Amino acid sequence: MPVAYLAAEGLIAPLLEALADRVVAVQGRLVLASAATDEAAWWAANTWLEPQWRRIASIGDGAKWLRSMQRNWACHAIDWFRRVELIVEKLPPLKAKPRPFPFELPDAPMGNWTLWQKDLMLASARCSSPFANGEIEFEDDKTGPPSRAFKKLQEALTVLRARPQPGQRCLDLGACPGGWTWVLQRLGAEVVAVDKAPLDPAVLALPGVTQRVESAFGLDPKEVGPVDWLFSDVICYPRRLLDLIVRWRDSSMCRRFVCTIKFQGADEHAIAREFAALPGAKVMHLHHNKHELTFALLDEA
Ligand SMILES: C[S@@+](CC[C@H](N)C(=O)[O-])C[C@H]1O[C@@H](n2cnc3c(N)ncnc32)[C@H](O)[C@@H]1O
Repeated sequence: MPVAYLAAEGLIAPLLEALADRVVAVQGRLVLASAATDEAAWWAANTWLEPQWRRIASIGDGAKWLRSMQRNWACHAIDWFRRVELIVEKLPPLKAKPRPFPFELPDAPMGNWTLWQKDLMLASARCSSPFANGEIEFEDDKTGPPSRAFKKLQEALTVLRARPQPGQRCLDLGACPGGWTWVLQRLGAEVVAVDKAPLDPAVLALPGVTQRVESAFGLDPKEVGPVDWLFSDVICYPRRLLDLIVRWRDSSMCRRFVCTIKFQGADEHAIAREFAALPGAKVMHLHHNKHELTFALLDEA
C-alpha cells in the first residue's frame, strides 16, 4: 500500500535511508513510498496513511473533493502557492491557536493534502498525527519554566495520552535548569530532579520538588526506591541512555519511561532500532524535537 511521509525538519536523510528502495518520489520534505515501515515513521513529522490522487479540473473541484471526504484538511504546499491559497479559502477553517496544557487529543481526523502538480492533488484523509502537518504549539509561559524544553515534555505527554497523576513520584534525569520538573510539578507530581548542575532556585522552591546533585548514571534504582515515571533529557550517547533504561526496567523500580534520544553520530538507525525493540516501546519524532527522537515505554499492566 502506498504511503507518504512528511519528513521532520532536517531529517529527510534518515527518512530516505529508512525507506531505501521503497522511495517512489520526493518533493521537498514530502516523500512518496511504495509501502510503510515502522522505522521511516520515526523520522517523519506526519505519515499520510491513505494517499489518493485526483486530477482536478478547477480550484472549486479540488476543494469539493476534499470536503466530500471530511471536514479538517491541512495543506503542506510544495509549489503553486497562490492556487493552494485559493483552495484553502474554500475549505472549513482550522483552529491554529496555541493549546493549553494538559490538552486532550481531538478525536476528529486531520487530513493532509498538497498540489503535487498544478492540476494533480494528493490527499490523505487518514494521517498519523491529529495536528496539521504534525505541528502542535502550546501556550507560552515566559515566567514559570526556566527553559523552552518544557514544550517537548508537554507534547510527549499529550501525544501519549498519559501523564503523571497527583502524588505520583517522578525522576527527572538531566533536569536542569528545570523546564520538565516545572511541568511535572504543576501536574501535582512529586519530582526528584537529578543533574550535576543546580536546578533553577525558583523551581527547586516549588512544593514537592527535591534535587540530587549527581550523575544520573550513578543512581542505584534500589537506593532511590520505586518511582512511577522516569524522565530523561540528559545529553549523552544513546547507548548510555539505553543501558540506563534497561537497568531501571529490570530493577522493577519503574514501569513508565519518557526519554529524549539525542543523536551525535552516524549510528542513529542501529541504536534507534535497539530502543524500539524493547517490548512495548514507542519511538517518535515530536514537533518540539530537534536532531533527536522521543522514546516512551508505558507499561500499564
Ligand atoms: C537539555 S538539558 C535538560 C533540560 C531540561 N529537561 C529542562 O527542561 O530544563 C540537559 C541536561 O543534562 C545534564 N546532564 C548531562 N550529563 C548528565 C549526567 N551524567 N547526569 C545528570 N545530568 C546530566 C546537563 O547538566 C543538562 O542540564
